[in-house]
Amino acid sequence: VTAPPRADKFRLDGRVIVVTGSSSGLGLAIAVACAQAGAATVLGARRADLLAKAAAMISAEGGQCAYRSTDVTRPADCDVLAAYAVERFGRVDGLVNNAGVGSAAPGTREAPEAFRAVIEVNLMGAYWMAQSFGRSATSGGAIVNVASVTAVAPGGIPQAAYASSKAGLLGLTRDLAAQWGARKAIRVNAVLPGLFDTEMRQAMDETEVALRLGATRLARIGRPAELAAAVQFLLSDAASYITGATLAVDGGITMH
Ligand SMILES: NC(=O)c1ccc[n+]([C@@H]2O[C@H](COP(=O)([O-])OP(=O)(O)OC[C@H]3O[C@@H](n4cnc5c(N)ncnc54)[C@H](OP(=O)(O)O)[C@@H]3O)[C@@H](O)[C@H]2O)c1
Repeated sequence: VTAPPRADKFRLDGRVIVVTGSSSGLGLAIAVACAQAGAATVLGARRADLLAKAAAMISAEGGQCAYRSTDVTRPADCDVLAAYAVERFGRVDGLVNNAGVGSAAPGTREAPEAFRAVIEVNLMGAYWMAQSFGRSATSGGAIVNVASVTAVAPGGIPQAAYASSKAGLLGLTRDLAAQWGARKAIRVNAVLPGLFDTEMRQAMDETEVALRLGATRLARIGRPAELAAAVQFLLSDAASYITGATLAVDGGITMH
């Protein structure tokens, strides 16, 4: 028997993958990469108009794609999105918890509701979505949580809410990897993006961008497709023995 070419293990043919925050930026790039690798993709975010455009673009290129307006801070929305994936494509194998919001505020002045709003999306939203996914996922499935280098290395501006939410996401990654590894054969990993050119980056102040770029050993901003490639790898059989891990995709920001 001839072994399949090694590259085949990186493909996602026949898989059904839910990507949150896929109306723009990294989430959209991840959905496109998954579709190009052969997966059916199910897009979730709040802006239905952008999701419709993204789904039309993926379908026009021959990909299978569906979308559903979803606010990940609402557990019921997360249940509906996971159920919709199964309804449309018969199964669900992958989840990319990418929905996220940025924040920056001095610690003495950050309002409780502002702090809570960031945790609600970046950390709690990822957990609600993972719970919904975990209830219906196929054995052998995979979750990739999109954290940030800010989870492990301060960016030089005050970001208590964002840093806490992303560090919390790493704890969630490890705990679910431990809970579901043997019981459900679901792998759970995280990526740590550095600086990527998206709406979130455009909203950052110039000091933050300059500090991050100054610490980036490759001396350039990342392209969304470069983050998507790492996520695709972690979802694929090429990563079949990797769980509970964090993979920095940061041009060298966090190297020791
Ligand atoms: N860009 C970077 O340099 C960078 C660096 C490190 C980490 N990250 C992380 O990468 C992820 C994607 O960010 P991005 O840079 O691509 O920024 P972005 O273009 O602003 O994308 C954020 C996405 O999250 C969605 N979202 C926000 N709140 C949501 C909610 N309550 N429910 C569902 N979806 C929600 C947004 O869609 P709707 O508004 O349509 O809901 C949007 O699609 C985030 O988790 C971010 O923290 C980005």
